[in-house]
Amino acid sequence: MLPKVFAVKVLRGGELLRIRNFELKDLDRVMKISREGNLEGTSAIYLEIYRTCPEGFLVAEVDGVVVGFVVALLSTPEEGRIFAIAVDRDFRRRGIATELLNVAFDLIKSWGARSVRLEVRVNNHAARRLYRKLGFVDFGYIPAYYSDGEAAVLMRKPLFDMAE
Ligand SMILES: CC(C)(COP(=O)(O)OP(=O)(O)OC[C@H]1O[C@@H](n2cnc3c(N)ncnc32)[C@H](O)[C@@H]1OP(=O)(O)O)[C@@H](O)C(=O)NCCC(=O)NCCS
Repeated sequence: MLPKVFAVKVLRGGELLRIRNFELKDLDRVMKISREGNLEGTSAIYLEIYRTCPEGFLVAEVDGVVVGFVVALLSTPEEGRIFAIAVDRDFRRRGIATELLNVAFDLIKSWGARSVRLEVRVNNHAARRLYRKLGFVDFGYIPAYYSDGEAAVLMRKPLFDMAE
């Protein structure tokens, strides 16, 4: 079956960005980008997510090459979670993470959740800035959350206006 394509966009540099569901053939690229981004996901974890909730596992392709991915899940029926997101070092600051997250937010909304949460390394200033720009606010702190002892900041974003 062909993967579902969620968005096609021309980037600032003129390249064609396509966001589609993860397929098994993407695993090597996803693992490379995940390791390079200092994420803790293993191939076993990504494969389990692909097996159990493939709908929220998306990749970004530029001119046919996978350059980023996002994993969106439901943590409760009311709340979504961004489990992982990373973009290839050579393709950062072109709006790719923003596009991936916006598609993920639409999916999470379509699953019935009213907000989305995530954890981010306290010293990951690039990601924290990205999330603030997209409307996330800090709501918690977990000391020594990561395997190397770094703390996590918890961030949350409402997916609807108060009036809705
Ligand atoms: C964080 C990450 C996903 C951002 O991906 P990206 O595609 O470069 O992000 P975008 O281009 O959509 O950035 C949108 C905005 O976020 C902020 N931002 C992103 N990277 C930034 C950086 N290195 N420094 C400061 N601000 C940054 C900026 O406000 C940026 O807007 P601008 O480029 O117009 O100034 C990417 O740096 C990455 O893969 N990092 C390693 C993995 C990681 O940390 N994942 C998050 C784990 S919680």
